[in-house]
Amino acid sequence: MAVDLLLGLQWGDEGKGKIVDVLTSKYDIIARFQGGPNAGHTLEFDGIKHVLRTIPSGIFHESSTNVIGNGVVIDPVVLQKEINDLAKFKIDIKSRLIISRKAHLILPTHRLLDAASETSKGKAKIGSTLKGIGPTYMDKTGRNGIRVGDIELEDFKERYRALADKHESMISFYNVALQYNLEELEEEFFAAIESLKELTFIDSEEYLHQAQKDGKAILCEGAQGSLLDIDFGTYPFVTSSNTTAAGACTGLGIAPNKIKEVYGIFKAYVTRVGSGPFPTELFDEVGTKMATIGNEFGSVTGRQRRCGWLDLVALKYAVQVNGVTQLMMMKGDVLSGFDTLKICTSYNYKGSTIEHLPYNIEPENVTPVYQEFKGWQADLTGMTTYEVLPAELKAYIEFIEKEVEVPIKIVSVGPDRKQTIMR
Ligand code: GDP
Ligand code: IMO
Ligand code: MG
Repeated sequence: MAVDLLLGLQWGDEGKGKIVDVLTSKYDIIARFQGGPNAGHTLEFDGIKHVLRTIPSGIFHESSTNVIGNGVVIDPVVLQKEINDLAKFKIDIKSRLIISRKAHLILPTHRLLDAASETSKGKAKIGSTLKGIGPTYMDKTGRNGIRVGDIELEDFKERYRALADKHESMISFYNVALQYNLEELEEEFFAAIESLKELTFIDSEEYLHQAQKDGKAILCEGAQGSLLDIDFGTYPFVTSSNTTAAGACTGLGIAPNKIKEVYGIFKAYVTRVGSGPFPTELFDEVGTKMATIGNEFGSVTGRQRRCGWLDLVALKYAVQVNGVTQLMMMKGDVLSGFDTLKICTSYNYKGSTIEHLPYNIEPENVTPVYQEFKGWQADLTGMTTYEVLPAELKAYIEFIEKEVEVPIKIVSVGPDRKQTIMR
């Protein structure tokens, strides 16, 4: 059995959680490979909305095993809260969730460092979710981090103290006013560590290797989106992990030649939350209408997401970097009721037309060039087959496929599991 991979092609929040949930029945194992509680993956079914942060989106299926891989950074406090939120749905978390010993832990002081760093940047801030992601990955690559496996060691508390003390002196270096009570935060952290100990820790690369040998079907779940990738995103306005396909190899220990399908998810338009360039961003009532109809408010921070037209230059770039084999277009229903739609097909870059994503996409360098499309009025949310979709939407979809040269296999027409059209 091969391993498939699902990831976001824009700036996150494309609808990864929904589609992983929809696809889970085809897989034995769902494995998250990077990011941490900066993610908010929404699933909707039976009239209930669930938001997952660290737990893979296969957790609601009895038959699936959910792996939190070595590439993920875990805040035990957030994970505990997620587990508590699921308790009322009678999900046997202990049998369905397993955690890599090599995943790094987010300490309370990582969150404080995130806040101190952002405050000190002033207007140049990244717009981080302030979940401690950047500082935790910095400690990982700086070879100072604390991993899940360290919880089992006798000197765990001493290791914790040494790192937290170092962080406190770093916080004072930033010289910003930060109100916090570390004692309270630590109490909460160590209580969550005790609960974490009740879960199963594994050497996930070995587990996944064996699962492949046993013919199990594995789906790797990405977080964030390709344009937030630490290498290929709009640096420095990115997250601190590789959100692109290669991240699944390093974040799970899966060899590149084992990956078969790469599912790339994108919204029929574009959103971004946090700072950084966004060439097709709309500042007018059209953008506001998208945000309102699309309910574009962050699932983690509640911040309003910036909205804009679909950007094919950026989409092609993401498809290339990831080797996407199948596309999934989300939130087509949100575009119902617009007389005219636009798709950005190239950029005017310092006076010449280009079709690739340049190093610098700040507004002073890049002006999007658009092609217009006729909109449709019909409500899509009850439609269940591709055939019945409005002709204008089909033209929109088929134009994207032709340009990107990858088939769109799923068209999503609403947040619910059932509002998913397979082609
Ligand atoms: P993720 O981070 O990629 O999992 O995406 P989020 O859950 O952060 O954001 C996607 C939002 O869009 C969630 O509120 C979903 O419930 C919702 N959603 C997903 N697919 C669709 C769709 O096709 N139509 C509409 N209207 N909403 C959708
Ligand atoms: P999912 O998995 C959308 C954004 C933040 C900020 C930047 C850095 O739900 O798609 P960080 O907290 O990593 O330091 O923030 O990245 N960001 C996301 N935007 N969806 C996400 O995750 C995001 N995770 C981080 O808003 O701009
Ligand atoms: Mg999200």
